[in-house]
Amino acid sequence: MSAFKRFRPRRVDEDTRDRYRETRLQPADFILPLFLVEGRGIKQAIPSMPGVYHYSADALIPDLHHLRDKGLSAILLFGVPEHKGLEQAWDDRGIVQQAIPQIRAACPGLEIITDVCLCSYTPDGHCHVGDNDSTIEILARVALSHARAGADTVAPSDMMDGRVWAIRQALDREGLNTPIMSYAAKYASSFYGPFRDAADCAPSSGDRRGYQMDPPNGDEAMEEIAADIEEGAASVIIKPALSYLDIIHRARSAFKVPVVAYNVSGEYTMVNNMIKKGLAREEMIEEVLVSIKRAGAQRIISYWTPRIIG
Ligand code: PBG
Repeated sequence: MSAFKRFRPRRVDEDTRDRYRETRLQPADFILPLFLVEGRGIKQAIPSMPGVYHYSADALIPDLHHLRDKGLSAILLFGVPEHKGLEQAWDDRGIVQQAIPQIRAACPGLEIITDVCLCSYTPDGHCHVGDNDSTIEILARVALSHARAGADTVAPSDMMDGRVWAIRQALDREGLNTPIMSYAAKYASSFYGPFRDAADCAPSSGDRRGYQMDPPNGDEAMEEIAADIEEGAASVIIKPALSYLDIIHRARSAFKVPVVAYNVSGEYTMVNNMIKKGLAREEMIEEVLVSIKRAGAQRIISYWTPRIIG
């Protein structure tokens, strides 16, 4: 070898590094999760997740206007009812169903995605009502009520078998072509802790390992994704993101539909805590998000969305 290769010239200063940068975060990559509560005039900080709020629909609108101006393109809505009770999940006057037209009127063009699950509504905090096949009928009802209210996309996060199929059938029967973004590979993860506080959905007994995926499994994620696409999913979510970058990468190579990664509450909190304690610089946030995009995610659901687009 007569000479060795020099890489360092690409890194001499920020302008140069920018020219060689392979991956860039863009506002359109991001989906902002939002927690909706009943009432009026509520914007309440969620203690387990600094920077994230419980909003009543009216109080959310001004903040959404602001974010929309900065380039926010999509939101993911979670309803957090004051009192438990399953019927509220598909009630036309439910929190999510009522908020959709208000958000639509205030922010035309913003993609409104709704989380379809039962765990914030069931008294025991589980994502099912006991039996798989009756649960998917209920989930179809919930999704239908969201679609009727005007949701652009419905996102089932329950991990029941056949729910994409049941939802697609229910929507088609009503002539609704609302796309399904399914949480296809959702793992039984320890990274959901802060969210369960925010959505008041921690299981009162047991855990979710009987329905969410076993973390050591990768091939099975490919089977789950293939099944959801076959059942009618238009895009698929891998969740969490950071400990599952290999799954994101594999999904992107193996399938044609858009791959979405959910950068979950525990990932958000872990990094924020390091920054708060002075153990990391704020750039850690961009490093985390760019790793998810570099792994192959076309879209990222993240609580840091306001910071990135801001
Ligand atoms: C429940 C649901 C969870 C999350 C989204 N939907 C929690 C769980 O499955 O226990 C987690 C999101 C996050 O941690 O940010 N269906």
